[in-house]
Amino acid sequence: MSEITKDAVMDALKSVIAPNVKRDLVSADMVKDVKIEGSNIKILIESTTPASWAKEEIKTNATEAIKKQIPNAKNIEITFEVNVSKHVDPAKDQMLPGVKNTIAVASGKGGVGKSTVAVNLALSLALDGAKVGLLDADVYGPSIPMMLGINEQPLVKQIDGKQKILPLENYGIKLMSIGFLVDEKTPVIWRGAMASGALKQFMSDVEWGELDYLFYDLPPGTGDIQLTLAQTIPLTGAVIVTSPQDVSLIDARKGLKMFEKVNVPTLGLIENFSYFVAPDTGHKYYIFGQGGGEKLAKELNTAFLGGIPINPQIVEGGDHGKPLVTEFPDTEEAKIYRDIARKLAAEISARNSNQQSPKIEISL
Ligand SMILES: Nc1ncnc2c1ncn2[C@@H]1O[C@H](COP(=O)(O)OP(=O)(O)O)[C@@H](O)[C@H]1O
Ligand SMILES: [Mg+2]
Repeated sequence: MSEITKDAVMDALKSVIAPNVKRDLVSADMVKDVKIEGSNIKILIESTTPASWAKEEIKTNATEAIKKQIPNAKNIEITFEVNVSKHVDPAKDQMLPGVKNTIAVASGKGGVGKSTVAVNLALSLALDGAKVGLLDADVYGPSIPMMLGINEQPLVKQIDGKQKILPLENYGIKLMSIGFLVDEKTPVIWRGAMASGALKQFMSDVEWGELDYLFYDLPPGTGDIQLTLAQTIPLTGAVIVTSPQDVSLIDARKGLKMFEKVNVPTLGLIENFSYFVAPDTGHKYYIFGQGGGEKLAKELNTAFLGGIPINPQIVEGGDHGKPLVTEFPDTEEAKIYRDIARKLAAEISARNSNQQSPKIEISL
């Protein structure tokens, strides 16, 4: 009879692919503990993405692989823990101490569906079990409160001797909007100043608590305001939303270059309005051209996270505060948003696992 050893268990787990990171459990460093007690095996698996959806598959496949490798193993107990990895960044940790990762959702121009993407990605990760916040930082068109069906003045509370703004909450995510500071009457010329100066203050005044991911819906474009914001907010990375038309793609490229300039990694590109599926025939019509986003992502050496079709339910949901992923979870588009969010989480986790400890500067 083969002996039950930790090595044999690890060998078996090398053949089990974790679908959330698309790597095997061992090389993804997900096996945190193996205990052998006679012929019983206890394993602790940790995931650095909100992978509640992958849990059963991992457990089943790991059990099967161990049984195959070690036929005399009796009880195999697998415990699964989620611990979303943290982007280590002194500036972020100072400004947002409880926030593990910050993601800017950006676009080269307005109207490409940036806010809709931000809302649905944030909700997707929350549905997968993560603690998520969303900050509407689009000074020109704050629209997230409407899209999430909530628009109240946030409460201010004294915490540790400081005045803190409490984020609103709906559909399981925390929300704050620059729209609570600027209203339609605020002249556009002031909004840039609000965006860069007040936002920084605003950010440390909001009591986010513990978050795995904080999304920012940035103002569209690649001008001075966007550049200042990209420098002001400590960012784990950015996702760029584009539509398939040439003009949008040119603007998306500018967006990516802007983040490059300020050393913010682009985590991937999302194409919106990719195609329309005719409800009667199911035929896909590529109204604005096919494959543009994917080609651009390849050219710019960033991940293509996915393409979202045109669906009138998205407009309806956005206008009535009923986001697609929570209100129409069975639609193809909801599945695409959720898949994109999972790819994004995997991308962040891969980057976090490669991050170097922050350099310690020694002054002599
Ligand atoms: N995939 C989609 N299919 C259909 N309509 C969409 C889609 N994505 C966004 N929209 C709609 O397009 C409009 C612009 O989207 P929005 O997210 O506000 O864009 P942005 O924030 O880039 O200006 C909104 O009315 C929204 O409901
Ligand atoms: Mg918007």
